[in-house]
Amino acid sequence: MSKLLEGKIGIITGALDENSIAWKVAEKCHEHGAKFILSNAPVALRMGKINQLAEKCNTKVIGADATIVEDWEKLYQATLDTFGRKIDFILHSIGMSPNVRKGKHYTDLNYDWYLKSIDISAISFHKMLQTAQKMDAINEWGSVLGLSYIAAQRTFPDYNDMAEAKAVLESIARSYGYHYGVAKKIRINTISQSPTKTTAGTGVGGFDAFFEYADKMSPLGNASAEDCANFCVAMFSDLTRMITMQNIYHDGGFSSMGISAALMEKFCQ
Ligand SMILES: NC(=O)c1ccc[n+]([C@@H]2O[C@H](COP(=O)([O-])OP(=O)(O)OC[C@H]3O[C@@H](n4cnc5c(N)ncnc54)[C@H](O)[C@@H]3O)[C@@H](O)[C@H]2O)c1
Repeated sequence: MSKLLEGKIGIITGALDENSIAWKVAEKCHEHGAKFILSNAPVALRMGKINQLAEKCNTKVIGADATIVEDWEKLYQATLDTFGRKIDFILHSIGMSPNVRKGKHYTDLNYDWYLKSIDISAISFHKMLQTAQKMDAINEWGSVLGLSYIAAQRTFPDYNDMAEAKAVLESIARSYGYHYGVAKKIRINTISQSPTKTTAGTGVGGFDAFFEYADKMSPLGNASAEDCANFCVAMFSDLTRMITMQNIYHDGGFSSMGISAALMEKFCQ
C-alpha cells in the first residue's frame, strides 16, 4: 500500500486506550508515514496506556486540557519545536459530558455540567483552531478533523446534552472552515461516526442495545474504529484536498435509512 501521509506532521488528541478511535487513527497515520505528537488531558495521561502507543508510533505525548487555551499554545509550540516545521493535520477526538457520566436525565440537567459538556466537547474545537491560527501553526492545505455523531441532527434521547455539543462542534467546522479556508486554504470537517465500543461510547445509556440496532439498520453494518481511522487518513491526505466545511457520515449507510428488513424481522417475530 502506498503511504498517503509521508512527510506530513500532525497532532492526534484523545487516545485513552486501545479501544479509542484516536488510538486506531494514530496507528494508521503511523503506518502511512506521518509523524505526529499524541495529546490527552493530564488526568487521562495518568492511566499511562498512551505511552505504549507513543512507543509503537515512535513519538511522544504532551498533556493538554482541551478547555485551556494556554495548553493548546504549549502543545503547538512543542510540536513546532519537535519537528521544526508547521503542522499538516490535527485530529480532535475529545468528548465528555458530566451529565451523562453522572446519570443526569435530559429533563433534569445540571447547568454547570451542561456548560462543561459543551466546553470540553465542542468549544475546545474552536479553541484548538483559533490558537492554531493566532500562532500560524498549520501549513496551507492542512486538514483538521473533529468526530461527531448523528444525534446532532436527530433525537437519540440517551445521548443527552452531548447532542447539543455535537451540533455546536459541527457548526464550528463550518464557520471556522470558512475563515481558515479563506485565510490559509486550511480545511475543517467533522466525521459523523457509527456507535463504537469505546470508553466515551459505552458511557451512553443503553449503548449495547443501540449498537445492535444501528448495526441492523445499516446496510453495511456499523463502521468500526479501524474503518474510521482509515477514513481519517484519507481526509488528512492530499487526495481529499477540496473537501471542507462538511459533516461526513461514516456510518455504513445508517443516516439514509428509514427501516431495514433485518429490523423488521425482529419486530415480526
Ligand atoms: N464511541 C462512539 O460511539 C462515538 C461515535 C461518534 C463519535 N464519537 C466521538 O469520538 C470522539 C472520541 O471518543 P471515543 O469514542 O474514541 O472515546 P474515548 O473515551 O476513547 O475518547 C474520548 C477522549 O476525550 C478525552 N478528553 C476528555 N476530556 C478532555 C479534556 N478536557 N481535554 C482533552 N481531552 C479530553 C479523553 O481523555 C478521551 O481520550 C469523541 O468526540 C466522541 O464523542 C464517538
